Amino acid sequence: MDEDLDLEKLLKYSLDTWLFKQGEMVSLVIHLGHRLGLYEAMDGIGNTTAEELSKVTDCHERWILEWLRCNAAAGLIKTSDGSNFELEPEAAAVLAQSDKPTYAAAVFANLKPIEVIDGIAEAFKTGIGLSYDGQGDGSEHAVEAMCGPMSKALLVSQVLPLLNGVEEKMREGARVLDVGCGTGLAIELLSEAFPASTFIGYDPSSRAIAVARERFSSHKNVELFDLGAESIPDSTNADFVMTLDCLHDMPRPDIALKAIHGALKDDGTLLVKEIKSSATWTDNLRNPVLALMYATSITTCLSSAMSDTDTLGLGTLGLNPELLSAMIKEAGFTSFHQHEVEDPTNLYYEIRP
Ligand SMILES: C[S@@+](CC[C@H](N)C(=O)[O-])C[C@H]1O[C@@H](n2cnc3c(N)ncnc32)[C@H](O)[C@@H]1O
Repeated sequence: MDEDLDLEKLLKYSLDTWLFKQGEMVSLVIHLGHRLGLYEAMDGIGNTTAEELSKVTDCHERWILEWLRCNAAAGLIKTSDGSNFELEPEAAAVLAQSDKPTYAAAVFANLKPIEVIDGIAEAFKTGIGLSYDGQGDGSEHAVEAMCGPMSKALLVSQVLPLLNGVEEKMREGARVLDVGCGTGLAIELLSEAFPASTFIGYDPSSRAIAVARERFSSHKNVELFDLGAESIPDSTNADFVMTLDCLHDMPRPDIALKAIHGALKDDGTLLVKEIKSSATWTDNLRNPVLALMYATSITTCLSSAMSDTDTLGLGTLGLNPELLSAMIKEAGFTSFHQHEVEDPTNLYYEIRP
């Protein structure tokens, strides 16, 4: 051992590093529980054993026991003796109940294929990242798994009522544009709540748009384009435009905002939902999952934001309120208001032409 090294610090760095490996491996175990319906089977039954759980899930008892003990060691399932286990109701709201805003178990299926990791390593050399379509088969579903539970809980019931006059227009029949619509969850939520309105979705991910087209195959009031925000025509004449968690993913959000400004009616409204972030490093340290945010940026958001030449390269934490305020002025908008919403991850802005 090098004598110049502080042994205590060395052990701390070593443990911190291995804890990330533990997180990676436990992620896989959470994914298995999600995929095999094990958390759902434990929800509401109180105390159980590997033998009982194996019967109701039709899984092998020895494998179930190892899975239960891994979850208990990770603090996700309770046990006092390593033989009797309980999924507490609060844990069930995170791991078993897909209708809860706190539901997270579906996110853990998003393990990156090796060709995507190779592509990201390559991006460190070339500077050019992977677009959302370059993220591997099935990755279009990962975004909805991550953002969906909060959107379902908040968009219609809490966010829309905050926007001056938007609900009324949508009830009567408004022209709504979802920019960066992904697989179309927001359009689904709004079209159910406001069937008299018409919806247009734009997203350059042809895979996400294919899923959205399937989703709305029988809807006459939904139109979808596999195009980026920069291509939205001035003739769109929208009453309401949304960009939900996507300006920071765009190579040129400044150009996108100009196109959105052109597409909005003079009395229209733009809703921007963006990741909570600050211009200073120390303020961002308040985020308890900051490292997760930066890791997501490298693997997804920054990668998309740098998937072209001549980009702004914002990434997950790159669009703070000050920068957004300056960008919307530059794009021609005149008013900007940040709303208070009980969302731990995102900020919501009402913006007018
Ligand atoms: C984090 S996802 C959000 C999807 C959806 N709005 C939601 O809330 O679930 C970001 C989306 O931005 C899209 N995107 C990336 N560049 C874009 C661009 N130039 N114009 C429009 N959308 C873009 C991606 O394809 C992806 O679907």
